[in-house]
Amino acid sequence: MMTIDPVRWSGALFLILAWGGLCAAMLRRPSVAAATGVADWLVVYASQTGNAEYLAQQTASTLSLGGLSARALCISQLDAATLSGATRALFIASTYGEGDSPDAAARFAGVTMADAPDLFALHYAVLALGDSSYTNYCGFGRALDAWLAARGATALFGRIEVDRGDAEAIGAWQHQLSHLAGTSDMPDWEAPAYGQWRILERTQLNEGSAGAPLYRIALIPAEGALPDWEAGDLVQVCAPSDPDLPREYSIASVPAEGRIELLVRLQHHADGSLGAASGWLCREATGRDAVHLRVRTHARFRLGENAARPLILIGNGTGLAGLRAHLKARIDAGMHDNWLVFGERNARLDFLCRDELERWRDSGRLARLDAVFSRDGATPRYVQHLLAEQGELVRGWIARGAAIYVCGSLQGMASGVHEALASALGPEALDELAAQGRYRRDVY
Ligand SMILES: Cc1cc2nc3c(=O)[nH]c(=O)nc-3n(C[C@H](O)[C@H](O)[C@H](O)COP(=O)(O)OP(=O)(O)OC[C@H]3O[C@@H](n4cnc5c(N)ncnc54)[C@H](O)[C@@H]3O)c2cc1C
Ligand SMILES: Cc1cc2nc3c(=O)[nH]c(=O)nc-3n(C[C@H](O)[C@H](O)[C@H](O)COP(=O)(O)O)c2cc1C
Repeated sequence: MMTIDPVRWSGALFLILAWGGLCAAMLRRPSVAAATGVADWLVVYASQTGNAEYLAQQTASTLSLGGLSARALCISQLDAATLSGATRALFIASTYGEGDSPDAAARFAGVTMADAPDLFALHYAVLALGDSSYTNYCGFGRALDAWLAARGATALFGRIEVDRGDAEAIGAWQHQLSHLAGTSDMPDWEAPAYGQWRILERTQLNEGSAGAPLYRIALIPAEGALPDWEAGDLVQVCAPSDPDLPREYSIASVPAEGRIELLVRLQHHADGSLGAASGWLCREATGRDAVHLRVRTHARFRLGENAARPLILIGNGTGLAGLRAHLKARIDAGMHDNWLVFGERNARLDFLCRDELERWRDSGRLARLDAVFSRDGATPRYVQHLLAEQGELVRGWIARGAAIYVCGSLQGMASGVHEALASALGPEALDELAAQGRYRRDVY
């Protein structure tokens, strides 16, 4: 059994408090920078679906509450000059793909990290977000930490790793922040609570398909008003059999439609049992059951500053959800400069939302609709093949200022599409589009 030695613990506590006080004293010098509008503390985030961004904003406000001048900054905005001029930076970095950086960090990881000055003046810390079920756990956060140390920067404290949002690890980060800010308050960072929703309608969209069943599921709050969201946002659903690990789904509808719609593919495990969340949503939950759900802002996949640009929307399977929400929002706003490239298996059985998409195209509200089916021809044909053939058209749309949104599978589709776009536009130009927020992905 573990015993706790009160003398050692009080000694340790004293050291922690003394260290915290020292840091706070060192780091809270009167700020010339604050007077000139430059923050003392950079809180840099590399985020794909918004968790790291949310934690960066909370981090910056915690430091500000303690009287420090801090600003949260997307890593796409961080160049070598800003970094070499900084003396204090906190990095909050998630990992994507297979140990890769999030899209917004592509230029930083590719160019800045390859060719940066020494950072001897920099004091830093890293909060790495990840999921230990992936082989390369916290790959980007770890690489960033190692790179900062190799450039001569000094760690304020050891890297903290957050496995699937683990509250204890986030608490450890908050604890370090209270020391830095010299406050004893532990800020309340709790995410919004889950609400109770009920299923209004559930329709299988691919009856007879060779692929797993895919459902369009409409939900409304069991009580009260519909929350607000924007096209591009996600929901998190807690399955009764696995309530501690919420699953994310792209929202396919807009608030004006009065309900949240999802496109959910039913997953099976190797032993034939149903996926915890998809099984619950597609098969088990009835209209009388409470579905625990909350809306999550997905700022990087919203239209944002791209609202006035032409849009190229690319996706496959359930990825149509996020793209359909964008199309609906655009059409409602009178913006018809939209090109959808959608891929599935078989035109007869898997052309999701076909009537609606063709109606939008025929009435001129969807400028171009390309649907590609992998199982209809002699050789498989995917969205990336169409993009490779249409390189000229892609360049034309980008030259007219278009933004690109990709939604759907990470395996196969996202990397194939990335390669096709990189060869049509050039890899640097594509990284530049990502850094400008004109190339956005919601891939899983
Ligand atoms: C940003 C984002 C957006 C998403 N959007 C959508 C969307 O719009 N539509 C959609 O359908 N999905 C979407 N997903 C995927 C979704 O979140 C879920 O991962 C998916 O529905 C599977 O969850 P599940 O609980 O049904 O399956 P799980 O129970 O998590 O199983 C998933 C897979 O894990 C393996 N597995 C897990 N547990 C076991 C076990 N006990 N035994 C054997 N194998 C196991 C199996 O390979 C199984 O197929 C999105 C994901 C992300 C990250
Ligand atoms: C498609 C996908 C790929 C991922 N790949 C990894 C990975 O290789 N290693 C890892 O540790 N975490 C991985 N993750 C987990 C994310 O890093 C984790 O969910 C993180 O909290 C996301 O933060 P963000 O919302 O700021 O992007 C992956 C998540 C998704 C959805």
